[in-house]
Amino acid sequence: MSTNKGLALVNRDDDGVNQDFRSDVLAGLSEAQKAIPARWLYDDAGSQLFEDITQLAEYYPTRAETQILRDRSAEFAERIGAGRAVVEFGSGSSVKTPLLLSAIDPAAYVPLDISGDFLRASAEALSQKYSGLPVYPVEADFMRHVALPQAVEGLPKLGFFPGSTIGNMVARTSVDLLRTMRETLGEGSQLLIGMDLIKDKDVLIAAYDDEAGITAEFNLNLVRRINRELDGDIPVDALKHVACWNDSMSRIEMHLEARQDITFQLAGRSFAMKQGETIHTENSHKFSRRTSQTLLLAGGWTPVARWLDDQARFSLILAEATVPRSAP
Ligand code: AVJ
Repeated sequence: MSTNKGLALVNRDDDGVNQDFRSDVLAGLSEAQKAIPARWLYDDAGSQLFEDITQLAEYYPTRAETQILRDRSAEFAERIGAGRAVVEFGSGSSVKTPLLLSAIDPAAYVPLDISGDFLRASAEALSQKYSGLPVYPVEADFMRHVALPQAVEGLPKLGFFPGSTIGNMVARTSVDLLRTMRETLGEGSQLLIGMDLIKDKDVLIAAYDDEAGITAEFNLNLVRRINRELDGDIPVDALKHVACWNDSMSRIEMHLEARQDITFQLAGRSFAMKQGETIHTENSHKFSRRTSQTLLLAGGWTPVARWLDDQARFSLILAEATVPRSAP
């Protein structure tokens, strides 16, 4: 296993403050509809809370996707075949990866993640589980073009992007990402991507506003992180977790809603929220067969197979970076 430790991906000032976090939060809280990019939900505590969410009875996506990977291994083997380099985008601490690797007998595994610590831990664990499989972790922001390790250059590639993480992005960002992935992987590559499906509104809302309040903690953890890392005094108790279904945009939205009028300071600046005003913290888009297909095609990927769990809650789609046919 080779690691790439020299790269500093986090942009900190002399006081150790993450400058990208600071500018995103300050800009986002200055908008008419306050909004903070969802990626800032995932500090260590947030990543742990998300792991807890995946265990909740109401949060079906992880279980549904895992079930597909478990039940359809023979079909993955047939459609994907052996000998590919599997490139996982945002590998985190996934339990799904071993299911895929066992199903298809790949030639190499290349986990990409922005968090070096997570990356090294999971790469280490996988190297041990599959002793013959070369693992080449790359610490990288997968939203940008990534130069893959030389060792996998000549191998056919399979991109793996599970979890419906694509759903966190608005259409233009997800299309940019799909095109970037195509560039990273090359023409002739395959992509196996998880996309959550549109379903009953109450089922969706429950998945993002669970009885035990873990998703609320996950959302409120962002405020705690802001207070800690950006020297803020946002009154956490004055904010309430809200999950709502935006039907016209086909997405679940998470917000933090002010229970009363509040003012606060952070990074030396003052902010105010009226009672009922919200900070928008996450989008989770849900797809139909048609919208998932359109999105993939717009990103340069042709869908070739699609699998659902037994309750048709979640889809895993296999797509190929084929040469575009000229239009009529
Ligand atoms: C990891 C981004 C796919 O949108 O379902 C879970 C994150 N947010 N509960 C999702 C999340 C609230 C999750 N993704």
